Amino acid sequence: MNRACLLLLLFPIVACSNDAAPTSSQKPDGPKLYVSKNCTTCHGPKHEGTFMAPPLTRLSEHWNRTDLASFLKEPNVWKQKSPRLTEHAKHYRSPMPPTFGTDEERRTLAEWLLTLP
Ligand code: HEC
Repeated sequence: MNRACLLLLLFPIVACSNDAAPTSSQKPDGPKLYVSKNCTTCHGPKHEGTFMAPPLTRLSEHWNRTDLASFLKEPNVWKQKSPRLTEHAKHYRSPMPPTFGTDEERRTLAEWLLTLP
């Protein structure tokens, strides 16, 4: 009987702490957003670049998360400010389109993009 009581006491605690743990599937996820926002069309499925757009590599040398999220929202504004992006643009037929969605989605994308080697 003592054992049964102990188990009954412990169980709800375990169940509660499991409930409170954040589930990763609810958070937006960079690689999934990259696919669902059609970035693959121009930058390629492995962000290796295509004739439509440059490869997305070593972005952390040029961007921080806030600026990159802002670039995704308004690429044209950033292109005007950056000779490097203006130079990029000369090689591609269509410009980088604004990324529609929430600020959180753009921040998540930016954070993940900065981890790409
Ligand atoms: C229509 C083709 C197209 C699509 C779709 C597209 N891009 Fe681009 N992207 C470009 C082009 C072209 C450039 C080079 C700058 C320019 O010309 O605007 C660029 C530049 C970039 C850069 C800057 C690269 C650097 O070297 O600093 C990043 C980051 C980027 N894109 C990420 C994305 C992400 C993330 C998505 C999806 C949300 C996306 N792009 C969708 C065409 C595209």
